[in-house]
Amino acid sequence: MDSVNAMLSNTILCGFALISSNIPTALGHWTYSRLIVNDEVVGEPWQYIRHHNNSNAPLTNVNSTDFRCNVDAKPAETYTVHAGDELGFGINEHFGHPGIQQVYLSKAPEGVAAADYDGSGGWARVYSLTSSPTNSTNSSSTNGDDGDILTWATHNIQNFRFTLPASTPPGEYLLRAEGLAIHAAHKWACAQFYVSCAQIKVIAGENASNLGAGVREGDLGPLVKIPGVYRGDEPGVLIPVFWSFLTNYTAPGPALWPEGTQEQHVV
Ligand SMILES: *[C@@H]1O[C@H](CO)[C@@H](O)[C@H](O)[C@H]1NC(C)=O
Ligand SMILES: *[C@@H]1O[C@H](CO)[C@@H](O)[C@H](O)[C@H]1NC(C)=O
Ligand SMILES: *[C@@H]1O[C@H](CO)[C@@H](O)[C@H](O)[C@H]1NC(C)=O
Ligand SMILES: *[C@@H]1O[C@H](CO)[C@@H](O)[C@H](O)[C@H]1NC(C)=O
Repeated sequence: MDSVNAMLSNTILCGFALISSNIPTALGHWTYSRLIVNDEVVGEPWQYIRHHNNSNAPLTNVNSTDFRCNVDAKPAETYTVHAGDELGFGINEHFGHPGIQQVYLSKAPEGVAAADYDGSGGWARVYSLTSSPTNSTNSSSTNGDDGDILTWATHNIQNFRFTLPASTPPGEYLLRAEGLAIHAAHKWACAQFYVSCAQIKVIAGENASNLGAGVREGDLGPLVKIPGVYRGDEPGVLIPVFWSFLTNYTAPGPALWPEGTQEQHVV
């Protein structure tokens, strides 16, 4: 089944609005097409991000191999970064739904370049930006309709940044941005995932000799396979009530790496 058919069936089963007949640019949808390193967008769109052919349509099948780096993702160039750099993804269009932003990281086997790595190894979850209680006195932080109980990380953002852990071992990696839109996630298999993979080569951080007290290079973990990371019925992917009624939210995925990394919240 091609992605257009998949999207049409999800449109019916999940009740997604089809704003126009122009499916690939449906309103509110997006994709990650640019890599950001230390506050600068590097290269052209898709230069360091695997170019997939799913336009800005979402994925809903957590069991498909497309869930890894999106549909028919082509190898890109690999950008060299330091462990500890601030990285990010630029978004084509904008993140037009309530939801969360996560990042997974997978190391290519020794001797295999990121461009040749299919992502079939283990993935660690390294970043999670979720929700906060809505501050109703501060209307600019109220992203949805008035009265939403939670403020969502991602509504209308056009890029996001996070710190590549300082303890990331040198090597070549796939870095996977995963946006999870929850506006239909109260129905089975209707959570929308927006996924792209960047290719990075990690070298020792500029302050490698003083990683900081207690921080040392370490193997990533716990590791999960993608697909396999989600079943589709766990908290955060299948939510108990319509999103605007949620009073709490649990992000899906394994424990964050490095151990002790905290989930981030919007302010
Ligand atoms: C994307 O690529 C796959 C595999 O090459 C192909 O089957 C599919 O039709 C393509 N989809 C679109 C929307 O171009
Ligand atoms: C809510 O927002 C207002 C206005 O920005 C601010 O003064 C107040 O401290 C915020 N309250 C909380 C609990 O964050
Ligand atoms: C994904 O596969 C798992 C294991 O086979 C299964 O339990 C689950 O229902 C599947 N999820 C979806 C959304 O198809
Ligand atoms: C979390 O939210 C759900 C749905 O709104 C609710 O049923 C549940 O009691 C809440 N749990 C806590 C600990 O607040």
